[in-house]
Amino acid sequence: MQQILVVQSSARQNGSLSREYTANLVAKLQAQYPAAKVVTRDLAAQALPHLDETLLNGWMKPVDQQTDAERAASDRSNALVDELLASDVVVIGSPMYNFGITSTLKAWFDHVLRAGRTFKYTETGPVGLTPDRKVFVVTSRGGRHQGMPQDHQQPYITTALGFIGIKDVTFLHVEGQSMGEEEAGKGRAEVEAALAAVAA
Ligand SMILES: Cc1cc2nc3c(=O)[nH]c(=O)nc-3n(C[C@H](O)[C@H](O)[C@H](O)COP(=O)(O)O)c2cc1C
Repeated sequence: MQQILVVQSSARQNGSLSREYTANLVAKLQAQYPAAKVVTRDLAAQALPHLDETLLNGWMKPVDQQTDAERAASDRSNALVDELLASDVVVIGSPMYNFGITSTLKAWFDHVLRAGRTFKYTETGPVGLTPDRKVFVVTSRGGRHQGMPQDHQQPYITTALGFIGIKDVTFLHVEGQSMGEEEAGKGRAEVEAALAAVAA
């Protein structure tokens, strides 16, 4: 194992459960793979630009026909794809905001779901180009949503990663955190048991 990519998307730097449990998981992975480099992409500390016309134009043109602005936008986007492709394991911290992922994490997916790089179009439909790798997703949630129709977080992340070829995805949920002390404690105990099983 060469590189672990940690993608953080909680708006909170302090008191964030997704950050707390991704850190626990990364510590366990580092104990297993001491030589692995950890690269952190903190989408709250450094928000990515949304897709705009300049970037979409840049994606469509050969490099020698791009304007300076299109090249700069393309280079930034390519760097995110390179970072993903260079990582053997990816750990995503994903709070649930309004039943889905944060807009910052959605922006990251918008950059790394890239035609010609992480997937391609074919006559029989799109095909993932990303060699499969292990992805862990730590979700944090005020309520309990696993398997429920209002959960637009796990299905979206599963679909988006699957679309580019990544199928080996494990979710670790921290649920019930706004449901009173007892439920919050239960939610923490559940993720701690799941983390212990990952490390085993
Ligand atoms: C703007 C916002 C929207 C939220 N929407 C939901 C929601 O739709 N469902 C839910 O269960 N919890 C929701 N929550 C609660 C968070 O998922 C919960 O506080 C979680 O712990 C946040 O992740 P973090 O601790 O890593 O910051 C929301 C919190 C915020 C700040």
